[in-house]
Amino acid sequence: MMVLGIESSCDETAAAIVLDGRKILSSVVWSQTALHRPYGGVVPELASRSHVEAVAPVLREALSQAGLAARDVEAVAATNGPGLVGSLLVGFSFGKAWAFARNLPFVAVNHLVGHVNAVFLSDDPPPLPLAALLVSGGHTALYRVDSPIALTLLGQTLDDAAGEAFDKAAKILGLGYPGGIAIERLAREGDPRRIRFPRSWLDRDAFDFSFSGVKTALLRHVQAHPEAAQDELPHAAASFQEAVVDVLAEKSVAAARGYGQNRLALAGGVAANSRLREKVTELAAKAGVSVFIPPVSLCGDNAAMIAAAGFHHLSQGGRSPLAADVFSRVG
Ligand code: KG4
Ligand code: ZN
Repeated sequence: MMVLGIESSCDETAAAIVLDGRKILSSVVWSQTALHRPYGGVVPELASRSHVEAVAPVLREALSQAGLAARDVEAVAATNGPGLVGSLLVGFSFGKAWAFARNLPFVAVNHLVGHVNAVFLSDDPPPLPLAALLVSGGHTALYRVDSPIALTLLGQTLDDAAGEAFDKAAKILGLGYPGGIAIERLAREGDPRRIRFPRSWLDRDAFDFSFSGVKTALLRHVQAHPEAAQDELPHAAASFQEAVVDVLAEKSVAAARGYGQNRLALAGGVAANSRLREKVTELAAKAGVSVFIPPVSLCGDNAAMIAAAGFHHLSQGGRSPLAADVFSRVG
């Protein structure tokens, strides 16, 4: 089944064409990063206006890159939340209208379920069940995944998401926006053992996370050493990154052992972080856990993951009515 996916939950307008939830024929992502950079974060009103401008051209580009015409599309899937409501409404309404005009099945896709589907976009998708760590700007959670659309929450962050912590840390270090990639780059030149930031294990056997403590510790460190030379910054970035990655990696591997039959997937924007990928791979190898990590291009927001999740919903008879709405938060 040829599914058109549409994603507009935050600051990326994306469209993709995916065959049978596995094969990407095209995946176009129009990022608004440059638009929001002067404000140090996403400005919701600017984001939705930009989605309005971008959504039709991005869809045309996705069809063109796939070498397809509109009539080749067999179904439409669009993100309905969680995310910024004004942004979500653009892609979701556009998708509904596009499907309605062509009398095609339409299905709403949860953005988080979408992220996890990045790991199934492969000729050789991992066997199930598995444990999945979803680490993005808005969410940090561990799931047991029984099918590409059946996720059971094992634990989640009690305060900041991992990506949010990276973004705030970047602000503290004066690295600008977006922060995750800036921290990763600077950390490459630093010593991760130079500053011992706290790790929030919470209950060591549980799968909840907390990142506000390490962020505050970084802030205190910077305030306590205002005279610190520029060449100290890479050590702060590397030590902060290591503290976040340590907890993510250890809890994920434990979840894979306990609930994922020794299989672990990573998903979400922070899964692009090379230190996280490296550390998870290292711990997993020691624990006899197999790791499945999507390519970096599928970790951040994209529409191929939405089309893939949409395919699995549609195959099970999932359909969303024209009256379906978007939502901003989980629960
Ligand atoms: O999944 P995503 O693109 O959007 C959301 O659904 O939130 O994730 C964006 C988040 C941002 O917080 C960004 O700073 C973080 O992912 N991120 C990274 C890296 N690349 C993106 N964090 C750490 N290291 C990276 N290389
Ligand atoms: Zn996302």
